Parts: sequence; C-alpha cells; structure tokens
Amino acid sequence: MSDSKIVKLVDESSNRSSELPLISGTLGPACIDIGTLYKDTGHFTYDPGYGSTASTKSAITYIDGDEGVLLYRGYPIEQLAEKSSFLEVAYLLLNGELPKPAEFATFEHDITHHTMMHEAQKNFFQGFHHDAHPMAMLAAAVASLSAFYHDDLDVENPADRKMAAIRLIAKMPTIAAACFRYSIGWPMRYPRNNLEYVDRFLHMMFEVPSEPLQLNPVAAKALDLLFILHADHEQNASTSTVRLVGSTGANPYASIAAGITALWGPAHGGANEAVLKQLKEIGTPDNVETAVKRAKDKNDSFRLMGFGHRVYKNFDPRAKIIREMCHKVLAELGVNDPLLDVAMKLEEAALKDDYFVERKLYPNVDFYSGIIYKALGIPTEMFTVMFAIARTSGWIAHWIEQHETPGSRIGRPRQIYTGADVRNYTPGDKR
Ligand code: ACO
Repeated sequence: MSDSKIVKLVDESSNRSSELPLISGTLGPACIDIGTLYKDTGHFTYDPGYGSTASTKSAITYIDGDEGVLLYRGYPIEQLAEKSSFLEVAYLLLNGELPKPAEFATFEHDITHHTMMHEAQKNFFQGFHHDAHPMAMLAAAVASLSAFYHDDLDVENPADRKMAAIRLIAKMPTIAAACFRYSIGWPMRYPRNNLEYVDRFLHMMFEVPSEPLQLNPVAAKALDLLFILHADHEQNASTSTVRLVGSTGANPYASIAAGITALWGPAHGGANEAVLKQLKEIGTPDNVETAVKRAKDKNDSFRLMGFGHRVYKNFDPRAKIIREMCHKVLAELGVNDPLLDVAMKLEEAALKDDYFVERKLYPNVDFYSGIIYKALGIPTEMFTVMFAIARTSGWIAHWIEQHETPGSRIGRPRQIYTGADVRNYTPGDKR
C-alpha cells in the first residue's frame, strides 16, 4: 500500500530531515506516513480535531465529503437504502461481502436467538432513578454485558469476537426498549422470535398488556432505512473512541459502551435530540429568520442544530435520502406536524443564506431523522439511543477489523505542553 513517492520534510533550524512515504488507499487522497518523523527530526505533528490526520487503515466505509459519497464496503448508500435491509447491511459491514441467502439465514437465526437480556440484567434497571436519561442507562447496561459474558471475552479469539458482535447487534434493541419502558414505568417486554429485527424492536417498545399492537409496515420500513443510514460512518468521534478503547485490549462491551457515551454529545449523535428541541424552541415558521440571524452572530453561541458536518462540505447523501423518506412517512402516517413547517422554512432559509452557503453548511442526517422518529412515536430522549442501535453494527465491525489487523498498537497521542516551566516546590508558609 506504500507508494514509491516520498515527501521530504526538512527542519532548517537543526538541519535534520525526514523522508516520509506516501500511502494510498483504494479511493481518497494519499496520506503522508509520519511514523518516523519524531525519530528523524525530534518533532511531533499538531492537528487538534484531526482535520488532516488518518488514524488507521480501514476497508469498511468510504466517504468523499466534497462529492457527497458514502460507500459501505464499496456499495453506494443510495443502493443499500433502496434495496437492502439493516440486518443485511450489518452482515456486510462485519463480513465485507453481501450474504448469500444461506449465509443471511444463519446470521438472522443467530441474531434472533441472542436477543434476550439475562434475567439478572433486568434487575440492573431498577437501580436507576425513574427519570434517568435513556443514553445513561444504555451506556451502563452495555458495559455491564461484560459482567454477564466474561467466559467468552478473549479479544484474541476470532470466535469470541464474532459472538460479541452477534450479541451486541441482537441485544441492543432489547436493552434500548428496556431503557424506554423503564423511564415511563411500563413492564419490560421479551423479544419475539417470530418478528423481524425492526418489527421486534417496535413490538418491545410499544406493546402494552391491555391491547394488541398493530405493527405499522410504514413505520418498520422507515426505521429500517434510518438504521441503514446510521450503520457506519468511518472514523467519526464515537467509532474512533471505540477503536481507541479497543486498542488497549479492552473487551468489546466496554469498547462499545465508550462509543455510546461519545455518541451522546450534541456535536455528534446527540444532535438529533438537539434538533427537535431547537425546532420546538423556534416554535413557528415566523421565528426562523431570527434563529438564522442568531446562528450567524459570532457573539452568540447559538448554532443551527442539524446543519454542518466535519466531512461533508457539499451535501450529506444520507440527508438527501432521509428528506424524501421524511415527507413520505408523514404523509403515509397522516401526521401533520407543525415542526416540519418550521424545519422546511429553516432548511430553505439556511440554504440560500450566504453565511451557510459560503461555509458549506448543509442539513445533515440528524436534521430529518428526529422528525421521523417523532412521527413514529419515539420520544425525543430516545433519538440518540436509536442512532446507537444502528451504529453498533459499525462500531463492532471496526473493533473486529482493528483486532484482525496485525501489528496494531495502543492509541497514544502526544501533546504540546503549555503549562508552567520546571519550578521548585514552595512550602505553604512561603506561597
Ligand atoms: N450553525 C451556525 N454556524 C455553524 C454551524 C451551525 N450548525 N456549524 C458550523 N458553523 C460555522 C462555525 O461557526 C464556523 O464559522 P467561522 O468559520 O466563521 O468561524 C464554520 O461554520 C466552521 O465550523 P466548525 O465548527 O469549524 O466546523 P466543524 O467541522 O468543526 O464542526 C459540526 C462540524 C460539529 C457538525 C458543526 O457544524 C456543528 O456544531 N453542527 C451542529 C451540530 C450537529 O448538527 N451535529 C451533527 C453532526 S452529524 C453526526 O454526528 C451524525
């Protein structure tokens, strides 16, 4: 993978230099391999936020932010969104190829038969305050899986790694639904093996003892699509967190729990919850102009949630797909949501405003996903949990890839120290 091309970096003050090879992947810009830079020149590199830094090689997902391209294992997201299902996409992310029918049947069977939570884990929930945020419960419950399955937690063993992937993808909806039901005081539901992945989740979320639940195919289709769109996104903050924790040799459940906490932040997966809160605050289309003005004001910390992306500087291809789905779902479910009017006015106003156009701030996937979740009856606090269910497939695919890569090292960035120079300790009475 190393190109014959070399970048030469000379430190003129010390006359030390480093010859740095270029590494190319299948697609995307070549990277300068700076592995020998410190040894050759005595310098580190500085890139807070990792705007110019590739942290790993990976064969899972490719993004071209300028062209608005997203590929899972080479397949365009538009094709997967139209033709595939979330579970098939999860198989693809994990295994690198689309499954043959028999392979998919085995995978689906394995997932279906690992959906139950350990009975003792159910008691775990009773310890949470009744109004605990579902993301707090989710992170704790997923970390606790390592306390239930410690017998097959050898991270060096491929069979154990595979089992962890199956368990995580299978149990995530069960745990997520338990978080929701605990927060509203409903009895937890066992997973139904006769239902498919997304229907099973909707059943665990919304079934009540007093009346049968009519599962809505429109809701299931929309949720499946959202799960596909959220399944992976290369080295984003939460996936990088999973890899950093994974690099220490930590078990998969601990690594994924760390990813969940990273996802929670409003600059990342928490944005879908923040979008809804912001649309509610804006309230009516008449207030959109003021909101846009505030977002542009450098003295105001207010940002338009659901706009902008670190990587997509053209458009977010997921947002294009989801925008269409959003209108379809609202029409088919007969939802007339005034927040959608606010959202559409906001989208229109921002897209023609010079500030947003110059900075290439387009609506991202979270801008629309929140509105769809709301239409499906999912409460705002659960939005990031929904994201986590889908992203678990990507996280665990990356965690496995990391462990399958020979020569992986613990992640350990360096720093530019800006604190006090060396000084001597002064006794208390001399300070
Ligand atoms: N509203 C108003 N201004 C914005 C916004 C926004 N949503 N996003 C960026 N800007 C402005 C910044 O103020 C900055 O302006 P300047 O150049 O005049 O200083 C410029 O655009 C570049 O912004 P950065 O913060 O440097 O962009 P970065 O790539 O670091 O941040 C991020 C990306 C975090 C997504 C940012 O756009 C943001 O906070 N958006 C809102 C939160 C959001 O929707 N997050 C979801 C991301 S998608 C996901 O995780 C699934």
